[in-house]
Parts: sequence; structure tokens; C-alpha cells
Amino acid sequence: MEIRPTTDQDLDVFVDTLHAAFGRFPETPTEGGGVWWSALEMDRNLLAMTADGQPVGTAGAYSFELTLPGEILVPAAGVTAVGVLPSHRRQGVLSAMMRHQLTELRARGEFLSVLLASEALIYRRFGYGPATYTQRLTVPRHQAALALPRARGTADAPAPGSVELLRRAECGEILEAVYDRYRRAQPGALSRPHRWWASGAGQPPVSPAPRYVAVHRDADGVPDGYASYSVVELGTLTVDEIIATDDAVFTALARFALGHDLVAQVVFKHFPPEHPLRWQLADFRAGQVSDDTDWLWVRLLDVPRALTARGWFMDGELVLDVDDPLLGEHGRYLLTVRDGKADCVPTDREPDLSLDVSDLGSVYLGGTAPSTLVRAGHIRAHRPGAAILADALFRAERSPHCLHWF
Ligand SMILES: CC(C)(COP(=O)(O)OP(=O)(O)OC[C@H]1O[C@@H](n2cnc3c(N)ncnc32)[C@H](O)[C@@H]1OP(=O)(O)O)[C@@H](O)C(=O)NCCC(=O)NCCS
Repeated sequence: MEIRPTTDQDLDVFVDTLHAAFGRFPETPTEGGGVWWSALEMDRNLLAMTADGQPVGTAGAYSFELTLPGEILVPAAGVTAVGVLPSHRRQGVLSAMMRHQLTELRARGEFLSVLLASEALIYRRFGYGPATYTQRLTVPRHQAALALPRARGTADAPAPGSVELLRRAECGEILEAVYDRYRRAQPGALSRPHRWWASGAGQPPVSPAPRYVAVHRDADGVPDGYASYSVVELGTLTVDEIIATDDAVFTALARFALGHDLVAQVVFKHFPPEHPLRWQLADFRAGQVSDDTDWLWVRLLDVPRALTARGWFMDGELVLDVDDPLLGEHGRYLLTVRDGKADCVPTDREPDLSLDVSDLGSVYLGGTAPSTLVRAGHIRAHRPGAAILADALFRAERSPHCLHWF
């Protein structure tokens, strides 16, 4: 079997092979007519070919920017379009593609790759760990009242501004600009390159599927948030996403959705766990959580580079013993954090924590507590207090969240 890079000429065969792996047809229309493959970067994709020249596997990567804790933007490879024909499964085709891809990403100087996993059993063996989480929040209209407490010592003012109702077709540029402002301050968020919006490559509201969009504007009329929604199923208003550049704007848009007439319930898709909205509902039990699941998986390709790239919020020192069985590597690093910045150098000191690179991926953005992975038996803590210190060190300024589908 040969793994080879693709060019623009391979687009049809790549898309066809991938659809066959998923048992779908490229001809099947996607919602709203956006074709996801228009965003593919054909100079970053791989095809696995049999000795007689038959394509049997695909894997690709997008060039994203990922926001790390501390509002730091770094390049990240968004692994995508992974599939192996049903006739060639469990013969090591994916393993060969993953090895090839990780080696190539490193050769390009990349130090992080991320993906969304179709199944949770596939990617840990390749060094990926779940790092951000998402859920669906359903609020029955009759329990939709918000009771915003008066914050002690601050003015009790709702977000100044206005909400304008537009159609998806009218406001692509507004959505793109607001999303870009939001993602720069949200740990775990990915950029949505212009070509995604331009070609409608993605789920609504990136795709041009018919949607209403409530655009929030600040006191000067500048858009600072939006909610994309529709009432497809009678009685249920489904919000694809609320993108807001601050919490008060999020609340204003949630209030707008919750105040809609003639619906029995409002469903917020891609709702960030730990979001304060649940605390703003007068009835805490009004928000029913479902589909609580992983979203972004993270893979560190260069441990010292990744750890020194992110921002930190507490001083401290930890010795991490990191195993990377797929790449046959093992490293022990002294992580020293001072004044928001980290140093990470090889050391011979006794380790505080021993962990797999996939677990380091899970804790990297601050969305998974190291102590949880110690309790789960994934991470080994070598001294009392090491896990608590790691929890405090790795925490981000806010929970990481990603809602970009790719
Ligand atoms: C998932 C998929 C790409 C795996 O490809 P593959 O070539 O069969 O994988 P490999 O043969 O390299 O498997 C490597 C290991 O992972 C395991 N594995 C692979 N897919 C798995 C799955 N879906 N669930 C559980 N284990 C899986 C294999 O059993 C094997 O384990 P082993 O090393 O202990 O024997 C393929 O089944 C597929 O195309 N599925 C449908 C599309 C899909 O889900 N793509 C992923 C999009 S994120």
C-alpha cells in the first residue's frame, strides 16, 4: 500500500472514496446546498492506494488557528475527511495514514493537530485526547424566565444595544466578522477561514441553509453577537449557535430566543458546559442537558513548544513524564510557570505526573482536570498534591469550547 499526497486533480476521487467509506453519495444534497468539500485543501490531503492503484483510504487537514488559554492564537492542523473503504477495514490502512500524516505535520513545523471524532474509540491510539466538550440545552418556554441577579457592587445594566432580525442570506459578512472577534478570545475556538463562509462549507449558519439570524449590536451599532435559529419542527425553536463577544450579549440573545412566541421549547445546540446562562434562569432546573459529549480532540506534536505557547494563570512547577507510544518517544520535562509564561525543558528530576501524550492533549486547553484523569487511572501522580497543583496550573481563564464543525 502507498500513501500519497493529493493535488487538485484528485478532488473527485478523494471525495468519492471518502463518501464510500461513510456509505453516502456525494450527490446527496446537504442542508442548504453548501458542499463541505469546497473547503478541502488538496495540498494537505492523503490518499491510501493499493498496489494495483485502487484508492482505499483518505485523510486530510485544514489550516486553522486555534485559540489557546490566554487569548493566544496558534496554527493547528484540523484533521478531517478520514475514511477507509468498508472492503479494506481493519488491515492497518488508517494506522498507516495517521503515522504518515503526523510525521508530515511535524516536518511542516506544526506542533498541534485537532479533530472531531466520529467514534470515541478511534483516535486515542494515535495520541489524541478529548479536550473540549459540548452539550444541548433544552428550555421549556413556560420555564424560560431569566432572573438576573444584581451583581454586588456593579450596576445592574443589561447589555446596551439592540437586536435586529435578518435572514441568513442577508448577513454572511456580519456573521464572519462577529465569529472572528469571538473566537480570538475563546480558548478552544477555531478560526473559520473566509473560504468556508464564501462557499457555505459547513453546518448552519456557515452553510446557506435558510435561517433567521438575530444580530446583536452594541450602543454604537457595531455587531457584537448573533443567534442563528429556525423553527423546523413545530413547537421547537432550535438555535444552531449563539456567538457573542461577551457574556451580557450572550444573555441578550438567549433572552431573545427564549422570548419567541408560539414555541413550546427552545433547544440550544453546541451549548458550552459550565456556561453561566443556567444560573441566570429563574428556575435552575429549567435547562435540561442532553447530548453531553466530547467535541475537539487535541494531539501535541511537540510537547515543549505546545506547553510554552499557551498562557498560564498561576505560578508553579511540575515534572511531567510523557509517553508517546505511536511515535516511539518518551520525554521528561520540567514545566516552570512564572508571570503567565512557561518554560519547558528536559530534566532528570523525579516526575510529579506520568501520562500518555493523549492525556496531555486532554488537559492542554484547561477543559479536563488532570485530577479526574488521575482518578480514572489514566495519569499517575507520584506525590500527594501533584494532581491538585496540575488542576490549578492547567485551568484556563474560562472553560474551552469549540463549536466549529469540520
Ligand atoms: C474508522 C476507520 C477510518 C478505521 O480504519 P481502519 O483502516 O479499519 O483502521 P486500522 O485497521 O488502522 O485500525 C487500527 C486499530 O484501531 C481499531 N479501530 C479502528 N476503527 C475503530 C472503530 N471504529 N472502533 C473501534 N476500534 C477501531 C482497530 O481495531 C485497530 O486496533 P488494533 O490495532 O488493536 O488491531 C474506518 O473504519 C472508517 O472509515 N469508518 C467509517 C468512517 C469514519 O468513521 N471515519 C472517521 C471519521 S472521524
